[in-house]
Parts: sequence; structure tokens; C-alpha cells
Amino acid sequence: MRLPPYVRGQTHHPGAHRYGAVLPGAKFGVARVRVGFTGVMTRRRILVLGGTAWLGREIARAAVSRGHEVTCVARGESGEAPDGVTLVRADRDHEDGLAAVATSTSTATSTEPWDAVIDVSRQPGQVRRAVRDLAASGLYIFVSTGNVYADQNASGADEDAPLLDPLAADVMESMADYGQAKVACERAVLDGFGPERSLVARSGLIGGPGDLSGRTGYWPTRFAHPSGSDGAVLVPGDRELSTQVIDVRDLAMWLVRAAEGDAGSASDGARSSARGIMNAMGDRVSLGDHLATARAVAGHTGPLVAAETEWLVRHGVEEFAGPKSLPLWLSDPDWRGFMARSNARAKASGLTLRPLAETLADVLAWELGAGMEQPHGAGLSEAEERELLAELAQAMSAPG
Ligand SMILES: NC(=O)c1ccc[n+]([C@@H]2O[C@H](COP(=O)([O-])OP(=O)(O)OC[C@H]3O[C@@H](n4cnc5c(N)ncnc54)[C@H](OP(=O)(O)O)[C@@H]3O)[C@@H](O)[C@H]2O)c1
Repeated sequence: MRLPPYVRGQTHHPGAHRYGAVLPGAKFGVARVRVGFTGVMTRRRILVLGGTAWLGREIARAAVSRGHEVTCVARGESGEAPDGVTLVRADRDHEDGLAAVATSTSTATSTEPWDAVIDVSRQPGQVRRAVRDLAASGLYIFVSTGNVYADQNASGADEDAPLLDPLAADVMESMADYGQAKVACERAVLDGFGPERSLVARSGLIGGPGDLSGRTGYWPTRFAHPSGSDGAVLVPGDRELSTQVIDVRDLAMWLVRAAEGDAGSASDGARSSARGIMNAMGDRVSLGDHLATARAVAGHTGPLVAAETEWLVRHGVEEFAGPKSLPLWLSDPDWRGFMARSNARAKASGLTLRPLAETLADVLAWELGAGMEQPHGAGLSEAEERELLAELAQAMSAPG
């Protein structure tokens, strides 16, 4: 089955700031925590449903860095939880999978209410059971996605845009149902906690160090290591298309600040009013500017060789992600709004975005430092790029 472009490169279960320091003698629940050099806030008990894969781990790490007491729930199959958290191993596919951390009396055991729950699941049944079992928690933050929207063609659309129908089933069987599954998850959270006690964060494309999908690492890495001796890099011709990347660290920190709510310190700009539904997305940047930034951080000075959409499609190059692709290039008219949504509501609530150059420099350092196989998840192999560049050169030199 061929998946739509937005889910290509994603799998079912794919992979700090130094703001906080816990004051000596701090105890759970009531401790005061120094934030940066200026503010003081209340330590929170935060439950991360996830924490062993990329974003969840970054959320847990950010929460620990802010001095919170952090518990993660996962099976432990995706990876390790970060240092400083308590990992509860549990399978959320089981009816009583959350018994060890439940706050509701509907389960056999119950614990003190969590100040905030942060959930990265994509399975409606997992989220429905969590909403039931954690009902006494103060706040439920759900990481959703821009894939919940019914239309992906309009530029600048906000959170009020129409949604897909929710998935009725408890289990999403394939990534083709990803958007509908997330709609069902959102609905369970909003029905259970209401907009005042919940945050549905509709994330856009996440990037930065740790991006195993290769979508944000490909361009700086390719510019740092062109496939040919003349340094040429093959790029899409249509550079007016929009891109929109949120750094994993910015997203994680904003979610943690939302979990702090009024306890956040105003003096370090950390207080967050994020509640209800928000697009948690990067700023819109044209593909041309994105490539120029990637080129600058990689120090590339070789030629850019542009290929038009029709030529790329004819030569089997995929859009956006996956094998033999040009990452972030999304020219399908039905998907041109996918990376062009409004993030105004989240920014007004305190979402702070670092410069794209920092994200791309850091993902490049991660790619090179970790010795990642190239390309991984998305992009052209060196052999593919060399072959395409040769064919393009031949086509351009042919008498026309
Ligand atoms: N990547 C993007 O560009 C993008 C864009 C928009 C939205 N998002 C959203 O961002 C989030 C990414 O989260 P992530 O990076 O942390 O990766 P993920 O793979 O979505 O994380 C899944 C987490 O849930 C745990 N899990 C899975 N099945 C479980 C089960 N049966 N019982 C208990 N735990 C289970 C996994 O741990 P174990 O396997 O160890 O159990 C893992 O920690 C997702 O919500 C995704 O939809 C991503």
C-alpha cells in the first residue's frame, strides 16, 4: 500500500535546555524549584505516557531539567527513558495497563493525582483508557498532529479548520489511518478533561537532533557531503513551496511549560497559558530559504542543480520523505498547506522557537557525530543523486 506523503518515513513506533536546578531538601509535590537565575516555581508531578522514543524522551528530559518529578510509562521496547525519571514498564494495550499509575478509583490501585499527564500515543484505545484511569489528574496534554485536518491544501489555516472523521476502532491498524486515529484520541481527551483542563497540541513536522526519519537531517548532511567531486547538489526547482519545522526541544519545552501552568516562572518568560487546541508548529519558511539555511550551516559553496517537479516525478523521485526522495519538497497541490499552517495561537501562549539555523546545525552535528548511515529514512543515496545529476546534465545539453 502506498501511504500519503505526510506519513511516509514515520513508523508505528519510531527515536536540554539547562533551565532548572532542584533546591536542596526538595520534597515531592510541594517543593520550590529555582528556575534559571531569577524565578521560583512549584515542582510538579508529571506523568509522561511514553518517554522511551524521541519526543517523549525529550519531554521527560525537559521536565527533569525544570526540576519536576517525572514518571514515564512505556514497555521499554523503543529505547531507554532519560536519566532522572522513574520508568514504569507497562503495556497500554491491556485493559488495566495503567493500574500502577492510575488516579481513578475505577481501577484496583490508585495513586496521588498527577499534576499533569503528557501523552504521545496514537492509539485511540490507549488514550480512552488513560483518560478514564487518570481522571483525577490536574491537566491532560495530548500530542496530536496536523494530520487530523480534513484538507491540507489551504495556506495559513488555523485550529478551526475541519477535521477528519474520528477512527471508531481502538487500534489503528496502519499509518493510513493515522490522522483519523489522532482525531479519536483528541476527542477522548477533550470529552474527558474539557478544554480548561487539557491541551491538544497539534504538532507539525518535528526536527532536530535525534530525527531518525532523516527529514530534517538530509539537507544539511547532503550539503556537507555532496555526492560528486564538483560539489553539486540536486534540489527541487520550486523553491516557493512552504516548509514548517518545529525543533523537538522547543516543542518539548513548551509542553512542559504548559504542564507547569500558573506555577511557571514569569520572570524567565516560562509561564504558559496553553490550553485547549493549538497548532504546535514551526514558522513557515520557503523551501528556498530552508535550503539556503541548510547550505549555510554546512558551509556548502558548490553549485545547486535544480530539477523541475515534472522531471523529478518522471525519474521516480518521491516527495517529502522515504527512500529516493527529496525531503520537505511537497509540491502535490492537495498537500501544499500541510507545512503552511498558522501557529499564532501557540506562539501567543508562549511557544518559543529557536532559529532554523540552530536546528539544522544541531541536527547536522548529530548526524555526523552519531555516524548515522546516510541517507536514513529520507533522501537520495549518493549513487542515486549522481545518476540523477548525470541524466539531468545530459537532458540539458541535448539539442532541443
Ligand atoms: N515526527 C513528527 O514529525 C511528528 C509530527 C506530528 C506529530 N507527531 C507526534 O509526536 C509524537 C512522537 O512521539 P515519540 O517521538 O515519543 O515517538 P512514538 O513512537 O510515537 O512514541 C510512542 C511511545 O509510546 C510507547 N508505547 C507504544 N506502545 C505502547 C504500549 N502498548 N504500552 C505502553 N507504551 C507504549 C513507546 O514506548 P515503548 O515502545 O518502549 O513501549 C514510546 O515511548 C507522537 O504523538 C506523534 O504522533 C510526530
